[in-house]
Amino acid sequence: MAKIPEYTIEKIKDSNDIVDLVSSYLPLKKKGANYWARCPFHDEKTASFSVSPSKQIFHCFGCGVGGNVINFVMEYEKLSFIESVKLLAERANIPLDHQEASPREKSDTGKLREMHVRAIEIYHRELFSPNGKKAMEYLNSRGISKQTVQTFKVGFAPDSWDFLVSKLSEDHSTELILKSGLCVQSQKDNRLFDRFRGRIMFPVMDERGNAVGFGGRTLPGGKDDAKYLNSPETPIYNKRRILYGLNVNQEIIRKEKKALVVEGYMDLLQLYQHGFINVVAGSGTAFTGDHARLLRRFADEAVLCYDSDEAGQKAAVRTAFTLASQKLDCRILKLPEGEDPDSYLQNEGADAFFKREANALPMMEFLREYYQPSSMSPRDKAETIAYLLEEIRAFPDPVYRETFAREIATLFSVEESTLLQQLNRRAYRRPASGKAVFSGEKPKHFKNQGEAAEYYLLQLLVNGSVLIRKAGLRYLSPVLFRHAFLRKVLEGVLPVLQKDPGIPAGQIPDRIGDNKIRNFVIQLLIEAQNSLNQETIFVESLRQLELQVLREKYNALTEELKKADPSEVPGIMKKQIENLEARKRLKLLYTPEIFKEIDA
Ligand code: GTP
Ligand code: MN
Repeated sequence: MAKIPEYTIEKIKDSNDIVDLVSSYLPLKKKGANYWARCPFHDEKTASFSVSPSKQIFHCFGCGVGGNVINFVMEYEKLSFIESVKLLAERANIPLDHQEASPREKSDTGKLREMHVRAIEIYHRELFSPNGKKAMEYLNSRGISKQTVQTFKVGFAPDSWDFLVSKLSEDHSTELILKSGLCVQSQKDNRLFDRFRGRIMFPVMDERGNAVGFGGRTLPGGKDDAKYLNSPETPIYNKRRILYGLNVNQEIIRKEKKALVVEGYMDLLQLYQHGFINVVAGSGTAFTGDHARLLRRFADEAVLCYDSDEAGQKAAVRTAFTLASQKLDCRILKLPEGEDPDSYLQNEGADAFFKREANALPMMEFLREYYQPSSMSPRDKAETIAYLLEEIRAFPDPVYRETFAREIATLFSVEESTLLQQLNRRAYRRPASGKAVFSGEKPKHFKNQGEAAEYYLLQLLVNGSVLIRKAGLRYLSPVLFRHAFLRKVLEGVLPVLQKDPGIPAGQIPDRIGDNKIRNFVIQLLIEAQNSLNQETIFVESLRQLELQVLREKYNALTEELKKADPSEVPGIMKKQIENLEARKRLKLLYTPEIFKEIDA
């Protein structure tokens, strides 16, 4: 593919506001000048992921990732640079007049998604072919219509060892086909064969409609014993983050602010065709915090509808807490003994289901019905409460934690204080690992004043006015810096500013090759306050550094003194006195007056 010109890339960056873009992936909260969220790139309970609207960059103080809109898309979507630029161009309706990325420029992610799109088509076509007749008949017998089959692109994998692999290997390497999880390698002769054979295929897509995996169901009388076989985790399929059906149903969920959550593919399809089109299902794993967070982007409320059997109800309790931990209001819809949503709809119809939905129980009432605390033995009660507190402990918001603890106290008729005590007993905070070099904005985090000064000077250099930057170019030099990493950062930043002192702050990271330095500069930018007294901070920090140099010299003289010949002593002491006087003069040398000599 022809190279995309630099100015087009700049235009694409300019046309995609970073707050807007990131908000479409995760909820952001404004605090001060920046927006905050829990980092999508590592697990955390507190928000250390920050987005700066003024500089159009993001940075995570926990794991250190950061960059501009393009970097965000690359990280989040696991796409190559070119693919990310294309995605952003499309988002901003900017035409790119060149062809598809050539295979070499395409990331594995892009190729794996394409492979899945191909597989979906192949399986889907097969379902409508004579080979798929039995599978289609089975779906019909379960009440699934052709229309639904088409909407969800349901397909059929015939009972063959190489039906799919023979087609995929026309375009893709063995290595990549293996990565896709669609095929498996034989231990005996290393040949590839199809993972899914003789199964009805439910394509799994992420919320944006990217194909990521499959769930495959056996046909009755199939020789395979597992009812469902799912794609494994792959570079494009993170089961914890995918909700089945969300690509189709998200509009209505967003509008109603409410989602139905079920367990199975079949439940979902059945609900869908009975008009309950705000439904999602976990796929291939229990409902996770990531699922809840994903759903939270679209809904305020979730109605859980799990199997009425013991396993289903137990899963419903867990899921309810998982949803609550992400501040989704949660109600639980109860079905009669022996029913799941699919069977209930077929037996009783949409109206009956609708009524049950309206009567779905708020979480605490559901827990009351489920546990029946009034008839519980003390031991069961203690065990149940211990379990529930364990769930609550995972809530990131302390207010939520406490509110739920109080409600549980009421539910089980125990003193609130007892529960709160127990809740807090083990609720110590583990210090976050992998902290960036400087995570705090306060000087007390620094080892000494010199280090703080180096930090502030760097921050002023990248974030300051042209005047400040020019003063920096004149007065700052790596030999003044004592902190090895901060010195490296200065060495990285100075040449960029030499070239263009007026460069917009947000563009500086793009000009820095070293990843660690680049991420640190982003952190500096995110943390920067646009303070009014930049000039004062600049001269005072500069003075600190000069002071540091003089102190070191003084100490060296003291060492010299210890070993000196008596005849040398007066000379050394004279130097020390000069040194002390030089320190006093610093106050006069470094004042905001210095800026008068610099033309901005
Ligand atoms: P039907 O049995 O056809 O009604 O399908 P269902 O979608 O209702 O499945 P069910 O309620 O039995 O299970 C709920 C979900 O759990 C399924 O959609 C699968 O995602 C998963 N599941 C069920 N059985 C298996 C299994 O044998 N293996 C695996 N890996 N997952 C399963
Ligand atoms: Mn079922």
